[in-house]
Amino acid sequence: MSDIQSVMHENRVFTPSADFVKQANVSGMEAYQALCAEASKDYTGFWGRLARETLQWKKPFTKTLDDSNAPFYKWFEDGELNVSYNCLDAHLAASADKTAIIFEADDGVVTKINYRDLHARVCQFANGLKSRGIKKGDRVVIYMPMSIEAVVAMQGCARIGAIHSVVFGGFSSKSLHERITDAKASAVITADAQMRGGRTMPLKPAVDEALTLGGCESVHTVIVYQRAACDTAWDASNNIWWHDLVAGQESVCEPEWVGAEHPLFILYTSGSTGSPKGVQHSSAGYLLGAMISMQWVFDYKASDIFWCTADVGWITGHSYVAYGPLAMGGTQVIFEGVPTYPDAGRFWKMIQDHKVTTFYTAPTAIRSLIKLGGELPKQYDLSSLRLLGSVGEPINPEAWMWYYNTVGGARCPIVDTWWQTETGCHMIAPLPGAMPIKPGTCTLPLPGIMATIVNEAGDEVFDQHGGFLVIKKPFPSQIRTIWGDPERYKKGYFPEEMHGAYLAGDSAHRDEDGYFWIMGRIDDVLNVSGHRLGTMEIESALASNPLVAEAAIVGRPHEIKGEAVVAFVVLKGARPETPEKAREIAEILRNWVAKEIGPIAKPDEIRFGENLPKTRSGKIMRRLLRAIAKGEEITQDVSTLENPAILDQLKNAVR
Ligand code: WTA
Repeated sequence: MSDIQSVMHENRVFTPSADFVKQANVSGMEAYQALCAEASKDYTGFWGRLARETLQWKKPFTKTLDDSNAPFYKWFEDGELNVSYNCLDAHLAASADKTAIIFEADDGVVTKINYRDLHARVCQFANGLKSRGIKKGDRVVIYMPMSIEAVVAMQGCARIGAIHSVVFGGFSSKSLHERITDAKASAVITADAQMRGGRTMPLKPAVDEALTLGGCESVHTVIVYQRAACDTAWDASNNIWWHDLVAGQESVCEPEWVGAEHPLFILYTSGSTGSPKGVQHSSAGYLLGAMISMQWVFDYKASDIFWCTADVGWITGHSYVAYGPLAMGGTQVIFEGVPTYPDAGRFWKMIQDHKVTTFYTAPTAIRSLIKLGGELPKQYDLSSLRLLGSVGEPINPEAWMWYYNTVGGARCPIVDTWWQTETGCHMIAPLPGAMPIKPGTCTLPLPGIMATIVNEAGDEVFDQHGGFLVIKKPFPSQIRTIWGDPERYKKGYFPEEMHGAYLAGDSAHRDEDGYFWIMGRIDDVLNVSGHRLGTMEIESALASNPLVAEAAIVGRPHEIKGEAVVAFVVLKGARPETPEKAREIAEILRNWVAKEIGPIAKPDEIRFGENLPKTRSGKIMRRLLRAIAKGEEITQDVSTLENPAILDQLKNAVR
């Protein structure tokens, strides 16, 4: 690691090789600057041109942007298209035989499907949905393992204009219930189980449980894909097997042509306060973002074998598994399992076996694979790789250097992509044949993305101290609203001080080259293994346990996960008397959180106190809790604290 350290201090810059530049879709810095200049000169003309050139329209649009009711922007509004048509039918004439998906199951079994067959399966499934009365505008919750079927389910909804809402398979029945009721879903698509790391993990029981929690009367159909053939409880009144649903269905299904602004999906994500918010995306603007970033950032070529390791339960799996690669007519790898099974060489073996050219994963995965087997990539032939990507959190320079040298053979540019559920596609990221890259920075905004950094008054700052990351102008792939809560959308993302700019919720600064460095969230959102978790969500989950009077959650830096969850808990009874008792209750509470939200939200550490540090007005002083969680001396001003003695108690609490 020492040579890596020295490289870090050199602040090295990696310029793309002449060969890479030559073949790149955006070749050279001048080409990037020309695109930016075009966008500056005629902003709507720029996006209008791209939308016409990139998407296939049933009915062309005549107006590019309607900003008359800002921030409820409308793009390409009078145009009509279908997203599934753009992802499937669009390729049938020229490349029906081309492999669309290489699916590798947990146990290593590989299934390939070409565009012709994928199209037929999506059509059959879409016809199946229609046979159950599911129609345009209905919401469909998808709670599936990584599989070809998960993509078929999403594309099938898009085909008939139903709005999907994918819920990550690692979320609990409570989280699922919250999303089903908020979206008032008509149907749930699930599987009997998922296979991960050699284990069968039932999925359907969580759906069954969610439906008993009340308020799910809207759900009239539960479609169950048989993955594991395990014992599955069955409610014949509304359950139907996937294979029974599609049996006998026609393999053609005329797409439902929808307006450009028709919601393609809702995806729930954590915010700073309250319950998860349903981020609503459009059809045309969203798909344009996914496709244009495939071309610019992933430098997509028809010969690529593309692999994004994200689960379809996250936005990354929407844009770069379910939609982007298919819309480009590409070949992609989808993986059911975990990177450490049967050993920590699994990713590298899969890159070798499938001759992956473009590999996109998260810093947390990279860090854990370094730890579990930093030398393992050398045992595999990774020469097919030509581009690497990173997403979800800032990548530390050490992990970057390892990724670059050991995985990429010092040959492949790394695209560190900054974006969010709300932005739909990459916002700040290198165009790999244009800009030089540096470890730890996502470099410069995509052409047409007017990202900048401002202070509290909303004025732009260019210094190294930084401020709030904002996007000054609307862009096609952005969030349209929060499902059922337009006020929260307006207040949360477009606060008055920002003068109409989109407030991303991250802080950032710029270096002397104008490159953006993301510093972290400005709100009470944690980033654990690249997953967004609201502190409030975890606090409410803890507080709903009968043992708990009050709880506060903060993040602490963590070597692998980026951030760890630390909980400060006040019990209803006395503090646990012995360390054993404290650990026992902590374990109960950890499992409770796993059940309420999902295992990813489990606190890494729980400290019990008689109280929490509060101001005289009763506000919890989180900055003090953060210092305690990090093991730092408290040097901050505690004069507004009502109960200073609590700090020592929490500092010395058993963990
Ligand atoms: C963080 C994931 C630094 C950031 C696509 C953002 C990043 C949040 C990066 C969104 C990156 C994502 N560098 N930070 N390359 N990518 N983030 O909605 O804090 O799950 O606001 O979308 O992840 O998380 P989300």
